[in-house]
Amino acid sequence: MTGPMLLLLITSALLAQIGAGAGIAFWRYQRRRARFAAPAAVAPRGAWAGWRQFRVVGREFEDAAQSQCSFYLAPLDGQPLPPYKPGQFLTFRLTPDPAAPDHPLVRCYSLSDQPGPARWRITVKRVPAPAGRPDLPPGVGSGFLHDWVQAGDVLDVRAPAGGFWLDPDPATPAVLIAGGIGITPMFSMAAWAVSHQPGRAVHLFYGVRDGAELAFGETLARFARAHPAFHLHRAFSRPRTQDLPGRHFETEGRIDLALLKENLPRGRHQFYICGPQAMLESLVPALHGWGVPPGDVHYEAFGPASLPAPQTEVVGAPAEVHFARSGRMLDWDGTAANLLDFAEAHGIAVDSGCRAGSCGACETRIVAGEVAYTHPPDHDIAPGHCLLCLAKPATALELEA
Ligand SMILES: Cc1cc2nc3c(=O)[nH]c(=O)nc-3n(C[C@H](O)[C@H](O)[C@H](O)COP(=O)(O)OP(=O)(O)OC[C@H]3O[C@@H](n4cnc5c(N)ncnc54)[C@H](O)[C@@H]3O)c2cc1C
Ligand code: FES
Repeated sequence: MTGPMLLLLITSALLAQIGAGAGIAFWRYQRRRARFAAPAAVAPRGAWAGWRQFRVVGREFEDAAQSQCSFYLAPLDGQPLPPYKPGQFLTFRLTPDPAAPDHPLVRCYSLSDQPGPARWRITVKRVPAPAGRPDLPPGVGSGFLHDWVQAGDVLDVRAPAGGFWLDPDPATPAVLIAGGIGITPMFSMAAWAVSHQPGRAVHLFYGVRDGAELAFGETLARFARAHPAFHLHRAFSRPRTQDLPGRHFETEGRIDLALLKENLPRGRHQFYICGPQAMLESLVPALHGWGVPPGDVHYEAFGPASLPAPQTEVVGAPAEVHFARSGRMLDWDGTAANLLDFAEAHGIAVDSGCRAGSCGACETRIVAGEVAYTHPPDHDIAPGHCLLCLAKPATALELEA
């Protein structure tokens, strides 16, 4: 085969690939995941397909307020566990209502320790009703785990997933910023870094209301004592009288840009942020304003993120949407935030979990047509499928749901 012919063939194959992908998703965005290749010790995602059963082999509270409970999990099949990337999460299928096993809840929980071959850990914060709304029920999944799930119980779990994980390049100093239960992926990153890369500079900024809410407190203090390159900055927004500055916490107040500037040495850092929406909304733009390149700022919200992402604005073309299994033909008028909201608003039952493109629970086969995404999904979408929670119709659409 001649050189030009070979070039033509390769170019055609590449164009065909791009064409196939474009039907499923198109967007321009700054990927939030780390850009370096993972070392061999860090597995690719999707270590098993579908649900795998895990036994709860222990549970313990991590904070004095007993609002954050860790669950230790071992696979029922007894096979060794694959590695995962520190910062990734598991997806659970929970059945809080035994009378309704066909209507499970899907919830995501970050792996809260470094990867181990025998058992894994998640840490779950009990979610109360929103402030000022005692009429609303408290969080169903977290309440179920806290109140009912005990050692010996079996849970259905999907493989570790998510694109929010620590850049394994030891030359890159890491700044981990956690608010409240956002500590879970940060603890996993910190624990992995101190045991595998003890010389790597890691700065953990951990914001909570007071000492009663501080999780993993003793272990973090031990890391700081044992590893000169690990720097712990605890910020208490409303310390109690028994919370002593310099001993139990470093800063009174919230984590903000001024605190970061004051404590970080000069030079390039990779920033990882996980916390409440308000924390993300203030810190991410502040870091960009400080001149940190977007590629060095990684963040995860434990729910739908409302941060404006640098991607294509997608309105969703007016189009007919056919939900094949439900036998419903509906007119998309562009007002719904995504196809998941649209389906639910019309009484069509579809699975969902994170509602943020992370867990894959809402993945649905596209029978015909194309979608566009409002945010870049973290979940790897199977060919010919879409994530309803982030997708809008780009053309008339037929979905399997
Ligand atoms: C990638 C990822 C990782 C995560 N990691 C963790 C983790 O490590 N640890 C952790 O604790 N969580 C984590 N989460 C969050 C977790 O998945 C759940 O969202 C959380 O536990 C709340 O679920 P729930 O079922 O308890 O609450 P839900 O039942 O979903 O309720 C949520 C809130 O809505 C309120 N509510 C109920 N009814 C109404 C109504 N009619 N109107 C308005 N509000 C209402 C409830 O009172 C509650 O405050 C993560 C999420 C994601 C996406
Ligand atoms: S609900 Fe989790 S990806 Fe859509």
